Amino acid sequence: MTTIDGLLERRRIVFCVGSGGVGKTTTAAALAVESARRGRKTAVLTVDPAPRLKDALGLDTLDARPRRVPLGVGVHLDAVLLDVRRTFDEVVRGLAATPEQARAVLENRLYQNLSGTLAGTAEYTAVEIVFRLAEEGGYDLLVVDTPPARHVVDFLDAPRRLLALLDSRAFAILKDPTVILPASGSRLAHLVLSAVLRGLERFTGLELVREVGDFVRAIEALTGALRARVTAADALLRADGTALVLVTAPEPRLVDENTRLTRALAGLGLPVGGIIVNRMLPRALFAGGTPPPPDGLAPALVARLRRAHAELATLAARQEAVLAPLVEGTAAPVLAEVPLLPGDLGSLADLEAIARHLFPAPAAAPDSAGRVGR
Ligand SMILES: Nc1ncnc2c1ncn2[C@@H]1O[C@H](COP(=O)(O)OP(=O)(O)OP(=O)(O)O)[C@@H](O)[C@H]1O
Ligand SMILES: [Mg+2]
Repeated sequence: MTTIDGLLERRRIVFCVGSGGVGKTTTAAALAVESARRGRKTAVLTVDPAPRLKDALGLDTLDARPRRVPLGVGVHLDAVLLDVRRTFDEVVRGLAATPEQARAVLENRLYQNLSGTLAGTAEYTAVEIVFRLAEEGGYDLLVVDTPPARHVVDFLDAPRRLLALLDSRAFAILKDPTVILPASGSRLAHLVLSAVLRGLERFTGLELVREVGDFVRAIEALTGALRARVTAADALLRADGTALVLVTAPEPRLVDENTRLTRALAGLGLPVGGIIVNRMLPRALFAGGTPPPPDGLAPALVARLRRAHAELATLAARQEAVLAPLVEGTAAPVLAEVPLLPGDLGSLADLEAIARHLFPAPAAAPDSAGRVGR
């Protein structure tokens, strides 16, 4: 079974998935800080971090190169901005045998119009960044933040969708329109079809056929390499060393959304391995009933404290009730709970505070309870 310590110590890639605004980016950053503090060479790949967090991680520059986060000597954490809107161009450049080969694809008008809309290419580019860092970065652990729920499925399914496109009949027809003829089609039929296509081009004035041909010839040299690479990236997502963690909050609106998301991911063969519940009132605070008030308080103040405690206990019970179906629907264990912390989070100190809740040391328990009301 996955445990929160096992995530950091035995996995190579941890994806934080979940609905919009639940705390995926913050949790990913906090997990990464803790991993680095434990001596693992770690990178956090974040999507769209809040401005303060971006500052803390040193991600103000625009490119996707890893930036070292200043956590002190011997603590290796790099941060990378994972731009899910990047173009496929970088993948083409990486796969082309020569710069000319890359240019032939990139400068093709058809490629320029299609590359943004072809199934999976935009999202695959983000997966490719994860893959490249895993292969070449020399990291012990990558913690990967992801886009909100409905987009994460597209993101994690991108390699398979791209492979399906490369293997599709449509792609084969693009490569050679004569494949639409039956296998027994005569040489004459092939010639006729080619002539019809050329005639169509002359008749319509469109250079479409020639451009398709140019495009396909240019990309054909790449498709073998592309297929191998995308297959390897897909295998990495499914490897034993990769875990998906659902980040969520005890809110009723998230129950259905999480159930849909985890089912969709399981359907892709990517089951959620554990849950981190964010913004949860700590159960330990209410386990022992109402605590005795401190000595010497005025009776009116004691009454107000009791009321406040009772209200919080009601809220905690409600959160528990909401959490139960959330966990049941996901069929994965709760790995950690993090309370709502005050202020606008984002500094490295904030991430370390969250990490203390994610990985509570036994001796830190009273302190973690006290921090809630800070
Ligand atoms: N435990 C917490 N206590 C207080 N504030 C929190 C907590 N967790 C996250 N936040 C704050 O909530 C906001 C949303 O968090 P975050 O950006 O991590 O969510 P997200 O799931 O990545 O959102 P999106 O889906 O928009 O990318 C941020 O301002 C963050 O600082
Ligand atoms: Mg985010």
